[in-house]
Amino acid sequence: MGVKPTVEKVTGTLGAEILNIDIGSSLDASTVDWLAHELVENKVLFFRDQHMTSEQHVAFSSYFGDVLDVHPWSRGKADFKNIMLIYNGAAAGWHSDETWREATPLGSVLYGRSVPDYGGDTVFGDMERVYEDLSDAMKEKLDGLYAVHDHIAHRRRMRAMGTSEEQIDAWRRAYPEVRHPIVRTHPVSGRKSLFVNGGFTDRVDGMDPEESKELLSSLYALVAKPQYQCRFRWQTRSVAFWDNRSVQHYGVPDFGDQERLMERVTIAGDRPA
Ligand code: SIN
Repeated sequence: MGVKPTVEKVTGTLGAEILNIDIGSSLDASTVDWLAHELVENKVLFFRDQHMTSEQHVAFSSYFGDVLDVHPWSRGKADFKNIMLIYNGAAAGWHSDETWREATPLGSVLYGRSVPDYGGDTVFGDMERVYEDLSDAMKEKLDGLYAVHDHIAHRRRMRAMGTSEEQIDAWRRAYPEVRHPIVRTHPVSGRKSLFVNGGFTDRVDGMDPEESKELLSSLYALVAKPQYQCRFRWQTRSVAFWDNRSVQHYGVPDFGDQERLMERVTIAGDRPA
């Protein structure tokens, strides 16, 4: 029998490295269940030195759910409808992935194809801990509130790149605004987390616009405390697999003109509740 995989925590809050595993190989059901459990408990898992083909990247992600097609505003890898290319500074800013979808992703599996010699780390923020530390008064205020999520930032970028208004309207119709609870409950652990993000949350549903802006800005700011974070230093062929239901992340654009090419597979999830 081979060496058993083990877990090494990265911080006291979130993040764990999984050692002694080749995630490109075929995994048995008990290993997959164990990884799914570690993901929910640690919120982001890291793997080093994974010699994976793109097919193996998709196959590993598929153990945890259906994989999503790359959305229309991102670059996909040639011949792979499920692999998104994240090139240079594309993912800067705190966000959860694709919360403009009705059913938001369970998680993402990011592979470091070509990483800079320094800089370009990814920072993860634990939104369960952020929620836990809110005052009782704030928890009460947020209880039952919904926020509207939208891909407005993508549309703005595509418009600046010369995409026609007709095409932009067609995307808006295909992916209309969605409402999600501001506090969601994790479908596996039952823990609550703060589920708004500066990338895709537009406003608090039904709230005066100024009040909504103020409330959201104050909520976005909370993840900035280092005790809610873990920071991952990439090496070529490293993998980060995060639970998009309980973390936000931020790709740090501090690597100058070095190349940074990441490949992401996004796993479908549930409608937040
Ligand atoms: C992402 O936002 O999906 C990628 C994060 C990164 O490039 O560090």
